[in-house]
Amino acid sequence: MSTVTTASANREHRVTVRSLARSKKRGERITMLTAYDFTFARIFDHAGIDLILVGDSLGNVVQGADTTLPVTLDEMIYHTRLVARGLTRSMLVGDMPFGSYQVGPEDAVRSAIRLVKEGGAQAVKLEGGLNVLPCIERIVAAEIPVMGHVGLTPQAVNRMGGFRVQGRGEKGAARIIDDALAVQEAGAFACVLEGVPAALASEITMRLDIPTIGIGAGPDCDGQVLVMHDLLGLNEWTPSFVKQFANLGAVASQAARAFAEEVESGKFPDEEHSYR
Ligand code: KIV
Repeated sequence: MSTVTTASANREHRVTVRSLARSKKRGERITMLTAYDFTFARIFDHAGIDLILVGDSLGNVVQGADTTLPVTLDEMIYHTRLVARGLTRSMLVGDMPFGSYQVGPEDAVRSAIRLVKEGGAQAVKLEGGLNVLPCIERIVAAEIPVMGHVGLTPQAVNRMGGFRVQGRGEKGAARIIDDALAVQEAGAFACVLEGVPAALASEITMRLDIPTIGIGAGPDCDGQVLVMHDLLGLNEWTPSFVKQFANLGAVASQAARAFAEEVESGKFPDEEHSYR
């Protein structure tokens, strides 16, 4: 029998930074999915997902851009507000887009406050380690919980030279470990580990007191996150670490074809679907 338990087993309570810290201590696995609108937020909330991230992956999966770099703070706030309306239990994390914190801590705290005040986020996430330490400290000092994000950080795509696995080799691994420790030291309540070797994610998870949430980081993180379009099979291409749990893309395409056929043949709408 498996000894792995889940935080979502305790479904009646709202997820908080305190309950997530407890989950780490108890070895309960944490679940996080992205969402960008009310409908999917409500579905995932009812399904017992612990954290809903309004990710800046919005740029890729909703806006059709090649990178997350063009996403604006106003766009993030708009989508965060839509998602907030669908949640009763899950904790809402708003992603800080490129340009909303890189200038410095004052800009960072202003952006984070907007995500909370206008978007309804309960926490914010930002990418980076040692380089964003003052930003994390400043946002935490404003009483806003911060989730870190180290390893493959998509906003650094141009520095990395593509979306490449990070932390390979001794030097690379040491850099990611330093980043994760810095994020914790700065006061973050959790840290996403993206695109790093499983053994490195396992070591970081053991060394950190705060929960790690993995994506392309192997099985030993305290929790796992997926982009909802990958989970549901809505993308034409998915990276190899993604497990597709449904094929909604095929279902939607089939429904659209059936609709077109019935409209074209005059079968829809019939009497049952018309007002008398
Ligand atoms: O933007 C996003 O969706 C993310 C997750 C992949 C963690 O940052």
